[in-house]
Amino acid sequence: TVPKEVIIKEVGPRDGLQNQPSEVPAEDKINWINQLTEAGYSYIEISSFVHPKWIPQLKDARQVAAGIKRDPSVTYAALVPNMKGLEGALETDVDEISVFMSASETHNKKNINKSLSETYPVLKEVIDEARLAGKTVRGYVSTVFGCPYEGDIPTDQVIEVSKRLFDLGIEELSLGDTIGAANPLQVDRVLTELEKHFTFGQLAMHFHNTRGMALANTLVSLEHGIITFDGALGGLGGCPYAKGASGNVATDDLVHMLHQMDIRTGIDETKLQKAARFIQSKLNSALPSHQMQIWNKQ
Ligand code: HMG
Ligand code: MG
Repeated sequence: TVPKEVIIKEVGPRDGLQNQPSEVPAEDKINWINQLTEAGYSYIEISSFVHPKWIPQLKDARQVAAGIKRDPSVTYAALVPNMKGLEGALETDVDEISVFMSASETHNKKNINKSLSETYPVLKEVIDEARLAGKTVRGYVSTVFGCPYEGDIPTDQVIEVSKRLFDLGIEELSLGDTIGAANPLQVDRVLTELEKHFTFGQLAMHFHNTRGMALANTLVSLEHGIITFDGALGGLGGCPYAKGASGNVATDDLVHMLHQMDIRTGIDETKLQKAARFIQSKLNSALPSHQMQIWNKQ
């Protein structure tokens, strides 16, 4: 059996835009996020407060956070790597902070310039200060199903990093298939292991669709009782510090599949289409999702 209702967390404005060759002006990002709000999401990750030299596409995070129209029923989140990033985020009124690290030493080093053991104290301070400021904190662990530098990552290593993040005070953990390496049987195996340690209400899945397996992996996760999924509209996305990574599972394809299966998402597909067309026109290139290919022909 699968759940009757799921939560979709839109990470397009962050994960979707962080690897785009063209920079989208803040005003267009704001307009897009407002359209996402109208489409019925309950959660939108709007940007990240990382070093502008590393991710120039999101250097306007503050402006974006200040400019969006806020719906009190929506959680607006921002990704933060360290205290400097948190200071920026706290100057805005985002509701939630997302922290991130990798299950793989090499990817962690390439992505945030730290070893795993150097990362924990940094995140501890960020999480403590964020919570003191009244924010909730979400955690990501990357390379759960494979690392572009180290290959397979032992599930025990994923469990170790995940436990430490929960001990530091995160409320939800998003399991990242950073390079879209997971296959459905592997997802089944990993979730069967994780079930022994975590409550499934605390876990979200963050599939990238590099090899077209994200929806199959989603189905296996649903059968395990996972109810929270990250996606990026149109299939935008990718981590610049993970060679070969491409877009997230397309939210529009995900919503379509779930609705066909009579699983509620709260998202309006017509409004989703409008928001997808909007960002497509601003990026000036066709979005890769299946839904978008259908919509583009209409
Ligand atoms: P670093 O160079 O080690 O930083 O970078 P540092 O602490 O040594 O500081 C060096 C300089 O950077 C200093 O400036 C700091 O002030 C400044 P200086 O004194 O030289 O003038 N600095 C900052 N500036 C702005 N914002 C900040 C910040 N921090 C320091 N937050 C750092 C470390 C983490 C900053 C860098 O590596 C970085 O920005 N990395 C970002 C990488 C990133 O955004 N990756 C993509 C997101 S993760 C992802 O996509 C995966 C996910 O989707 C899940 C999945 O798919 O698996 C979440
Ligand atoms: Mg990602």
